[in-house]
Amino acid sequence: MIETVVLVHNYQRPEVQLLADFLGDSLELAMKAREVDADRIVMCGVDFMAEVVKILNPDREVVIPDHRAMCGMAMRLRAEDLREFRREHPDAAVVAYVNTTAEVKAEADVMCTSANAVEVVSKLPEDEVIFVPDNNLAAWVDANVEDKEVIPFPGRGCCPVHHAITLSDLRELVARHPDADVLVHPECPLEVCRAADHVGSTSQIYEYCKERQPEKIIMGTEVGLGFRIERELGVEVIAPDHAVCPDMKVITGEKVERVLDGRVPEPLRVELDRDLIVDAEETVEEMFRITG
Ligand code: 13P
Ligand code: SF4
Repeated sequence: MIETVVLVHNYQRPEVQLLADFLGDSLELAMKAREVDADRIVMCGVDFMAEVVKILNPDREVVIPDHRAMCGMAMRLRAEDLREFRREHPDAAVVAYVNTTAEVKAEADVMCTSANAVEVVSKLPEDEVIFVPDNNLAAWVDANVEDKEVIPFPGRGCCPVHHAITLSDLRELVARHPDADVLVHPECPLEVCRAADHVGSTSQIYEYCKERQPEKIIMGTEVGLGFRIERELGVEVIAPDHAVCPDMKVITGEKVERVLDGRVPEPLRVELDRDLIVDAEETVEEMFRITG
């Protein structure tokens, strides 16, 4: 009997969230991945999340229920482009957002997630920081870290889902629900973040609701998180209808059930080259070292 643990990201479909052994944001999932000692880890999320699990726990079999679940933002940055760009800024540290390929992580100095990007950058000794690949998160970090030059790369790098959440979307929702707290993810444009009551990762948005128990929130992030907040906390969630990540929705309950029944065809197994794992792991572990 193969022992299996199912890790699920907060944006997954409701039926997938209900199959979770552990549900969380990218940082919590990475932390959990380090400590799991089951034979098989099923990662319900997008490709970079499954890669992080493999990087941090390479001796386990890591499975993604559909290998076509790929983060639209992470896919667009190639390691060779970052390598070339950093040559132009030899004194800069390179911070890779978790939403990057393993190759990009291997090229960077330290990883961060949306939960700790400001902390990671502010604790770096370097004055110059290349931040990849999300220009919006880079702008949020820049606005919240003093005395550092944050250089976003690549040009126009952003999450298509969060970038499409506009200030006018937010204003329209606030006009209809003036009593709601406004919580947004830092992948949103800076002007949207500035208009919010609170900015945080998916689990930080969840934690805000758990601690403060607002009756209603306007949520500037992917709609999937709303299911968890409403179900577990009884808080009413209003989100823009278009905030749906198609990459996250590729995974269905049926596909997860198939894997749990032991049907794991080759493409679903996450395999990474050993040297790549070693290099990428250094970058991920540097984040854990910096943030304690
Ligand atoms: P979190 O790390 O906040 O869960 O976000 C992951 C992500 O892909 C946001 O779009
Ligand atoms: Fe990637 Fe955006 Fe989807 Fe998150 S919401 S997985 S950043 S495309």
